[in-house]
Order: sequence, then structure tokens, then C-alpha cells
Amino acid sequence: TVYPVILSGGIGSRLWPLSRECWPKQFLDVAASGRTLVQQTLDRLDGVADLKAPLVVCNEAHRFLVAEQLRDNPLGPARILLEPVGRNTAPAIAVAALQALQEAPDAILAVFPADHLVANPDALRAAVETGVRAAADGWLVTFGIVPERPETGYGYIEGGDAVEAHPQAQHVKQFVEKPDLATAKAYLENGGFFWNSGMFVLQAARYLEVLKTHAPDILHACEAAMEQAQRDLDFVRLGEEAFAKCPSESIDIAVMEKTDAAVSIPLDAGWNDLGSWATLMDAAEPDANGNVIFGDVLLEDSSSNYLRAESRLIATVGLKDHVVVETADSVLVAPRDRVQDVKQIVSQLQQIG
Ligand code: GDD
Ligand code: MG
Repeated sequence: TVYPVILSGGIGSRLWPLSRECWPKQFLDVAASGRTLVQQTLDRLDGVADLKAPLVVCNEAHRFLVAEQLRDNPLGPARILLEPVGRNTAPAIAVAALQALQEAPDAILAVFPADHLVANPDALRAAVETGVRAAADGWLVTFGIVPERPETGYGYIEGGDAVEAHPQAQHVKQFVEKPDLATAKAYLENGGFFWNSGMFVLQAARYLEVLKTHAPDILHACEAAMEQAQRDLDFVRLGEEAFAKCPSESIDIAVMEKTDAAVSIPLDAGWNDLGSWATLMDAAEPDANGNVIFGDVLLEDSSSNYLRAESRLIATVGLKDHVVVETADSVLVAPRDRVQDVKQIVSQLQQIG
């Protein structure tokens, strides 16, 4: 029994002003495909063997967005675990594991961020099925992407020997979450390193066992939050007091950097983390001048820009390598190589309140 677990708690601050705290990017159709990112996340799993209905972990504030958008998903009625506050991914996966274990002692979790693009879902489904077989033997499965640049926003996996009984998987020699630029460059030059995709396949019981070893505070807080949970319809509301006390930590740092039970399966599926306007631009098909355009845009002598007009006309003259995103109440203008810093604008806005 495999439970798809969808992590949908982030606010996507680097895609401001399109992504908002009250309406984050996973609930938007950012690539204009007709389906939002969280919908696509479930759509592309349709066909994986032995899948149960999905477990979605998200913030309380987004419960109606999630319920509405996943109403007609192909995997069946979603159960929605509601966090009163975000505590990052290690706790989010822990509460999903506890929920799944109530139903199936041998439950396997297939964990997916709600905000990625995958160009070739067939390759993803095949890799997930391979991952499920390795997870059934107790391995914590990651998926390794061949790195294209010294990206500092990702985790890195150093691949080791092939796993006995699962030759498509390799042992993780080293897992390093978000290294600095010099380290990322060295990894790229050395070879043998992969980007961590952020997707995981894990036996629920095994994950909790490893959490107990490396982050017992997280496990205990999550157990208490599930004991105090209130259930109504498809919603599971985590106990507020207990969950608020949980340390905030990613699975990458709390577990993957520390455990020796991690293995990695190579994934070549046209994966893209839509983290910033630059990755969104890379994922789109540019026109002859290298511009990616949405909405009403007029250009004169302009190239290699990402231009997105939601409600008014954007016109540029002599503009190159820029991102311009217009919405009804805000306009972002930034050089393409500075888009990581858009999150600073969101911090400023949060301070203003
Ligand atoms: N439910 C819930 N609660 N979900 C959360 C929370 C939370 O508190 N925090 C983050 N998420 C969700 C996000 O919405 C996203 O779908 C996923 O968990 C991953 O979180 P990110 O914040 O996007 O992580 P990241 O991109 O910095 O890093 C992770 O992904 C990279 C690949 O995209 C790591 O796993 C890296 O190692 C990896 O390379
Ligand atoms: Mg991410």
C-alpha cells in the first residue's frame, strides 16, 4: 500500500507578486497548462501501482483551496492534514506517516512537493515504482537529478555503490543540504553528485524509527499533535499546542544528512523545481528573441526577458535579461540573475504588515 503524500505548506515567496501568502504558487496554474501545480502533482501519479488516495499536508489557512482543487483528482478523495503553523517538511512527513500507519502497518509513503514540474511523467512513475520496492526493504529513497549548474538552493547527493537487490539504486555516500557556492561548484567539477529532487519514498514505520534516532523531539511533538487531532470530514486538524512546540526542520537536515539508510535512484524526467522566476522561464518555450511572454505585452528591441501581464499591458523598449511581472496591485521588475532576492521583498512586505 503506497500513500501519495503531497507537501503543500510553502508560500512560494520567490514567485511574488503572483504567489501570495493567501494564494501560494502551488494553487496557481503558473505554466498556463489548465491545471494548477498541486493538481498536476496528483495527475502525473495516475497509473503508479498500488496507490491509495492521497494525503495532503498543508496550512490550515489553505484548507478550502486544497479541498476545492483536489476534488476531482484521479487518485481518489484526499485526506487533508492541517497544520496550525508551518514546521517544515520533517514534521509534515511525520504526521502523514502516523496517519498512514493507523490504516496500514506496512504503509509506504511516496512524498512529493506540490510545486514541481515534470515534463516526462512516465519516467517519474517508473522511478517511483522502483523506489517503492527499495523502500519496502527499509531504504529511505531519494531521487537524484544530474546537476546542470552550481545551484545553491538544492540538496546534493553523492552516489556510492549499487544497492544489493536493487541495482537501480545507489547508496548515498553523502547528503549535503544547500551547500555554499564554492562547494556546489566543486561538486559539479568532481562529478558523482546529484541534486536531491525533494521527492522521497519511505516506509512510514521506518521513517519514524529514523526520526526517533536523529530528531526525537520532532517525533514526540508530532505524536502528540496527532493524538490531539480533531477530525471532521476529510480534514485532520493537528493539535495546535503540541504542533506549535515541534522544532521546525526539513527532512533533508533532520534525517537525510544523518542517516545511513538513504539510497538514491537516478531520475531523468524533465524535473524542474519552479522555485524562482528564472526556473519558470527555463521551463517555458521562448520566442525567437528569447522572450517568454504571458498576457498583453508589446516589445521593441527586447530580448531574453520573462514578461507576464496579468491585468494591464506591459511595453518594453531595449530591455534585456529582465523579469517583469505585473498583477492588479503590484509590479515586479528585476534583472534575471537577481530573482532569488525577490523573497527579500516579501520579507519587507511582511514587516510592513
Ligand atoms: N505541509 C508543509 N508544511 N509543507 C511544507 C512546509 C511545511 O511547513 N514547508 C515546506 N513545505 C513544502 C513546500 O510547499 C514544498 O512543496 C516542499 O515542502 C519542499 O519545501 P521547499 O521549501 O520548497 O524546499 P526547498 O525547495 O528549499 O528544498 C527541498 O527541495 C529541493 C528540490 O526542489 C529540499 O528537499 C532540497 O534538498 C531539494 O534539492
Ligand atoms: Mg522547493
